[in-house]
Amino acid sequence: MICLGIESTAHTFGIGIVDDKCNVLANEKMAFVTEEGGIKPGDAAEFHLKNARGVIESALEKSGKSWNEIDLISFSQGPGLGPCLAVGATAARALSLIHKKPLLGVNHCVAHIEIGKKLCKTKDPLVVYASGANTQIIGYESEKYRVFGETLDTGIGNLLDTFGREMGLGFPAGPKIDKMYFAGKKYIELPYTVKGMDLNFSGLLTAAKLKIGKENEDDLAYSLMHTAFAMLTEVTERALAHTGKKEVLLTGGVGASKALQKMLGEMCGGQKAKFLITPFSVACDNGAMISWQGIVEFTAGKKMELEETRTNQRFRTDQVEVNWL
Ligand code: FE2
Repeated sequence: MICLGIESTAHTFGIGIVDDKCNVLANEKMAFVTEEGGIKPGDAAEFHLKNARGVIESALEKSGKSWNEIDLISFSQGPGLGPCLAVGATAARALSLIHKKPLLGVNHCVAHIEIGKKLCKTKDPLVVYASGANTQIIGYESEKYRVFGETLDTGIGNLLDTFGREMGLGFPAGPKIDKMYFAGKKYIELPYTVKGMDLNFSGLLTAAKLKIGKENEDDLAYSLMHTAFAMLTEVTERALAHTGKKEVLLTGGVGASKALQKMLGEMCGGQKAKFLITPFSVACDNGAMISWQGIVEFTAGKKMELEETRTNQRFRTDQVEVNWL
């Protein structure tokens, strides 16, 4: 079975073509970037609309497959930015009708988890999903992916990007400030906010922004990241103790941060848990993970009528009925 998956929750328009052994035959994408300022949903959706056809064609060409050989179309149903989700869903519905293929909407966060599990060969990890809009500590329990801890305001990637933008680094700022982390020498005191198992980043962001221009930039970037990642690591460690899971799987775009990998890796070492990092090509938003999730759910018997393919901007990880494990 071969599935074509469409990702369009935020900045990325991606098309993945994956078979039922999780061989990634194509994983093409275009990402909306700005020199200055954050993502305006309407502009990103416009970008997706302009690029959709080209990305679909290039994925098919790369995979060497024709529409006759595609068995299923899947797409990100949510969570995400409304206008961006609408572009992916509309493309998926149109392609499903034109080529007479079954259609399945999937949860974006759950798709991150399943492809990470498959490629890292792990069955029941505690998942740290750290991206622009999402920051969650997730584990499987009683037919659901339960969220043990999460951000109460912004995602950790948005925190880093917003801070980077204030420093004039453009979007995405993550890779640039990750370098600054290792150049920083002095820790500057910043608010550290963990509420139960949940995280809060807005106070940290405000305090760090107020120090721009008054402190060394590398030191400030180091201190912001060190604080945010320590908060995330603390909650992960507690979830690990609570669930008794033996593996930690890191995924999401912020999972590419060497600073975060280092901190989580050290914590896992102390807890005697195995630390796994999702390969970069499928850790950021991409079509291959949506495609693989389509195969996982379709194979387990999930079907969708056209009326059920409405997008949901607030589609939560723990709303998905997990019928495939
Ligand atoms: Fe994501």
